[in-house]
Amino acid sequence: MTLLRLPGLVDAHVHLREPGYTHKEDFYTGTCAALAGGVTTVLDMPNTSPPTSTPERLAEKARLAAAKAVADVGLFVGATNTELDAYLPAAEQACGLKIYVSDTFGSLRIDELGALHRLFRTWAERRESSPAGLGPIAVHAEDLMLPACLALSQLYRVPLHVVHVSRRSEIELIRRAKEQGLPVTCEATPHHLFLSQDDLPRLGPRGDMRPRLATPDDVAALWEHLEVIDVFATDHAPHTLAEKTAPEPPPGVPGLETMLPLLLTAVHAGRLELADILARCVENPRRIYRLPEQPETFVEVDVDARFVLEDAAMQTKVKWTPFAGWEVFGRVERVVLRGKTVFAGGQVLARPGSGRVLFQPTGATAIS
Ligand code: NCD
Ligand code: ZN
Repeated sequence: MTLLRLPGLVDAHVHLREPGYTHKEDFYTGTCAALAGGVTTVLDMPNTSPPTSTPERLAEKARLAAAKAVADVGLFVGATNTELDAYLPAAEQACGLKIYVSDTFGSLRIDELGALHRLFRTWAERRESSPAGLGPIAVHAEDLMLPACLALSQLYRVPLHVVHVSRRSEIELIRRAKEQGLPVTCEATPHHLFLSQDDLPRLGPRGDMRPRLATPDDVAALWEHLEVIDVFATDHAPHTLAEKTAPEPPPGVPGLETMLPLLLTAVHAGRLELADILARCVENPRRIYRLPEQPETFVEVDVDARFVLEDAAMQTKVKWTPFAGWEVFGRVERVVLRGKTVFAGGQVLARPGSGRVLFQPTGATAIS
């Protein structure tokens, strides 16, 4: 047994499904899954029902998270075609703005230049007039929407974070944009790093997510461009197995509990260094999203422990993983958050509400 002590990880892209889809996940089960995966901060996406597109809905979501979360939670706001930038008065209470310009799950799709232009312009204006500044615009922008978002970010000098990059053309374009000094960062998910289209026959609907699994050459391109990838994030997007096996299955796969063992297994295989993980799962997301430090917080991992990932062992409400059957290294033995042991021996020990909701006015978060 070799126990390694790591800082609590950040997962900068999760869908905890509350409100509206709590049969898939909620702030308690989703943050339990986070702790089991060594993650002590999650950034939650706005494609809930209703979507997080107004100040009132953001406040309501913050209340729900404050009552139930066992890890710290930052909340994104999102734009809809009808409400557009209604969230602006509460922009400072969000970790960032999420814009979906490509095919996705939920009602938050923006695919028309007029709307997109307005969203970049108003976020940039708000950012300039806000004393503490604002987080980035995070975009789900595949294919030709990527250069459109890169151009808007350059024109408005607003930081752009490209979520779940999956293709060679996209990572090459982002490398070029960075070389030219554009204010862009990007993220890749474990499923796009470790799975490809070749896995689809085996995975069936468990392999369906947006962006879709790409070709082995696209996967190779992500590994070749590791230096361009700022963040590893899971895009934890749980749907029940009944939903995934129904005629029109929703896209998305859970990921919070499998990211760290998959990455540590890559370290074991000599494909990654531990420092690569810490940069992309702690330091860079903290800088990009301006997240506070978590004092007296750490994760103990037995990096020699070898085990098989199993559906039934998952804390997520949907109890499955596309990596079921994979043999991995690196078991999370204990998680300590602000001096308290919150996870040990495979069990969550924290009380609901002991997690904090980030970026809220003082007094709005639960006392831990
Ligand atoms: C996400 C979901 O289910 O919320 N699905 C997915 O396939 N990634 C939505 C998204 O991130 O596009
Ligand atoms: Zn997502």
